[in-house]
Amino acid sequence: HSVGIIGAPFSKGQPRDGVERGPDLIRSAGLVEKLKAQGCDVKDYGNLMFEEFSSDEPISRVKRPRAVGRANERLAGAVEEVKKEGRTCVMLGGDHSLAIGSIHGHAAAQKDLSVVWVDAHADINTPLTSPTGNVHGQPMSYLIRELHSKIPVIPNFSWIKPCVSAKDVVYIGLRDVDPEEHYILKYLGIKVFSMTDVDHLGIARVMEETCDHMFSKVKKPIHLSYDIDALDPSISPATGTPVIGGLTYREGVYVTEHICQTGLLSALDMVEVNPKRGKTEEEVRSTVSAAVDLVLGCFGRLREGNHRADYRMP
Ligand code: ARG
Ligand code: MN
Ligand code: MN
Ligand code: MN
Repeated sequence: HSVGIIGAPFSKGQPRDGVERGPDLIRSAGLVEKLKAQGCDVKDYGNLMFEEFSSDEPISRVKRPRAVGRANERLAGAVEEVKKEGRTCVMLGGDHSLAIGSIHGHAAAQKDLSVVWVDAHADINTPLTSPTGNVHGQPMSYLIRELHSKIPVIPNFSWIKPCVSAKDVVYIGLRDVDPEEHYILKYLGIKVFSMTDVDHLGIARVMEETCDHMFSKVKKPIHLSYDIDALDPSISPATGTPVIGGLTYREGVYVTEHICQTGLLSALDMVEVNPKRGKTEEEVRSTVSAAVDLVLGCFGRLREGNHRADYRMP
């Protein structure tokens, strides 16, 4: 695997600070070294720097639109470059508003993607339906072609062109969906595997059906957007909007192993790790370590063990 890492220390898509420390924490837990140890060719592009806006008043229900719009525009450019160098792009967040730039940049280089969104939340509120005004609860609404007419004009968002079709999106792990979001998911016929479906089918069948859905016509490159709050808060408590009843560690890792095995993973987001939301050091460690393991699972780590193709027994 050829991997390019971008750090996006950005938190203004939601109100709690600390999530901007995600990229450095995940790196300090040895991400790059561990990827190299499992045979990946890794290039770390470092952290992006983001513009400050002294005045950034809400527009409709969108909070801090200028900062969020500009940050995502920068990120989109960076992701597009990593893709043009032929690497699978790993975006370390930061909050989930960053999926706007990450998916947009990916789509600019790759044309026609599937998106697998692993999250407790659907993050598909439009600026007009959002109950909070936090953009991390809205990124999908800007990206889905079928919702384009529902998006008002917002400063620093005009560069965004919807680039994903509703039929190319699959959700896994949902358990906290706003009524307006539930309507949108049904109205657009988006494929959803809620936690009820994970309970009913088991994670292996959920992944089989996810792939069946994605590969029903042509095999498109996959953008995996992984919110750490998809996992149960007993494993990843250090996050801004934890929701009880999530994926187990094993289910979470299984998702990454199965996506890896498709050979189509083209970009990955790992977002919403927030050390300031951990009540103890151990809570932070557990959350960061889960995030690292999920990334490793995306790039060939197997729980049965691994060995290099050129290994010879002494
Ligand atoms: N649905 C809520 C909202 O729109 C919560 C979103 C949480 N999103 C997240 N990326 N953690 O604000
Ligand atoms: Mn979430
Ligand atoms: Mn499959
Ligand atoms: Mn999310």
